[in-house]
Amino acid sequence: MKKFTLLTILSIILALFMVACGSDEEETTGDDQNGNGDSNGQEEAAGDNGEATAEEGSLEIFSWWTGAGEEAGLLALIDLFEEKHPNIEVVNAAVAGGAGTNAQAVLASRMQGNDPPGTFQIHGGAALNTGWVAAGRMEPITDLYDSEGWHDKFPQDLIDMVTSDEEIYSVPVNIHRSNVLFYNVEIFEEHGLEAPTTFDEFYEVADALQAAGVTPLALGDRESWTALHLFETILLGSLGADGYNALWTRDLDFDSPEVVEAIEHFHKFLTYVNDDHAARNWQDAAQMVAQGNAAMNIMGDWAAGYFATDLELEPNVDFGFVPTPNTTGKFMVVTDNFGLPKDVENPEIVKDFLRVLGSVEGQDVFNPLKGSIPARVDADVSKYNAYGQQTIEDFREAVLTPSLAHNSAAPAGFVSQADQAVNIFVASGNVDQLVQALQTAAEQNIQ
Ligand code: GAL
Repeated sequence: MKKFTLLTILSIILALFMVACGSDEEETTGDDQNGNGDSNGQEEAAGDNGEATAEEGSLEIFSWWTGAGEEAGLLALIDLFEEKHPNIEVVNAAVAGGAGTNAQAVLASRMQGNDPPGTFQIHGGAALNTGWVAAGRMEPITDLYDSEGWHDKFPQDLIDMVTSDEEIYSVPVNIHRSNVLFYNVEIFEEHGLEAPTTFDEFYEVADALQAAGVTPLALGDRESWTALHLFETILLGSLGADGYNALWTRDLDFDSPEVVEAIEHFHKFLTYVNDDHAARNWQDAAQMVAQGNAAMNIMGDWAAGYFATDLELEPNVDFGFVPTPNTTGKFMVVTDNFGLPKDVENPEIVKDFLRVLGSVEGQDVFNPLKGSIPARVDADVSKYNAYGQQTIEDFREAVLTPSLAHNSAAPAGFVSQADQAVNIFVASGNVDQLVQALQTAAEQNIQ
């Protein structure tokens, strides 16, 4: 009884306090007639990404951007959003693990449990289109592109990657390049080496380094996606863009001699990696190059963000970069997107965030830190370091191909079977087994 009375008094105090806060906020904002602290979604002056608004409520942003090389860009973007929307509380629901290793499983279970985050990181291409869009779990946001005048502000190729049945479903915050070979400038100079641009040059350089006692290639496949990542760059280098793209339309089979040849290259690359590769993640592998414990690392350009933002290294001085062997003029695209899931509590608040993320200002606070280039064509190039500026230029000229390891080229079922098969191959070196596993995965998952 006593406990009940105390609880009752506490509830009354809390209720009075909330009413007081509510009226306070009403005074400040002056326009939340509902006074319930939630977004009413109606009064927002849409279309202006430069103005602070009085909308209230909270926004959960789900991604896998935590820790070194990952989160600086996101935090800067959140700061910008909070500056523009001081009454919206952001919940940063990032789940650690490179390439969404853990986040994607958490997201799937939340979506299945009908508990979508306000917005979530998703790759353009197959992940979005054959995943949550096909499952009917995303709202189209073509109207946002209309009201923001975005149709010609993003490259058409990118818009196509996030369009299904003539509706657009997400906003790209960036473009990452997956086919980059980073190298330690000092090691290369010391051994009188040039950055390799072909397979033959790569083998020559790697042999010279190995003979000099230097680990040629850093790999960190404790998270299995990095091996698939290395493999996709070799597929592109070996098959060319047309051959690589033909895999995703089933015009080229995985048991073709061309793919067998690519796998043999992959096999050879693996002879140059550090012995402890299975104990390292992507940052640990990139760090080997930063610290001079390995000469090269093949990674997406989030590694450029890690080098420049987290390790404070200078592009072209401390770390060099070239497209991976045989991929000059080709650009393997990884694009991080955010969209509007169905049944979220505050769709207007999500759209507020998408407006900021899709604005020039949003893209230019995020990307210089992240190592990616802006998805917008009218971003401010002067905000990017030498790596970013070179990549912006390369992107304009390059032939674009979708990343396999980062879920853009093929449906999730294929990616996970390929990931598993490639990782078995790293240990076994059994070419036939990998060929058969990839062929079966393609037959089962790619239409
Ligand atoms: C990719 C993602 C990048 C980066 C990377 C490493 O899938 O697109 O933004 O975070 O994983 O985690």
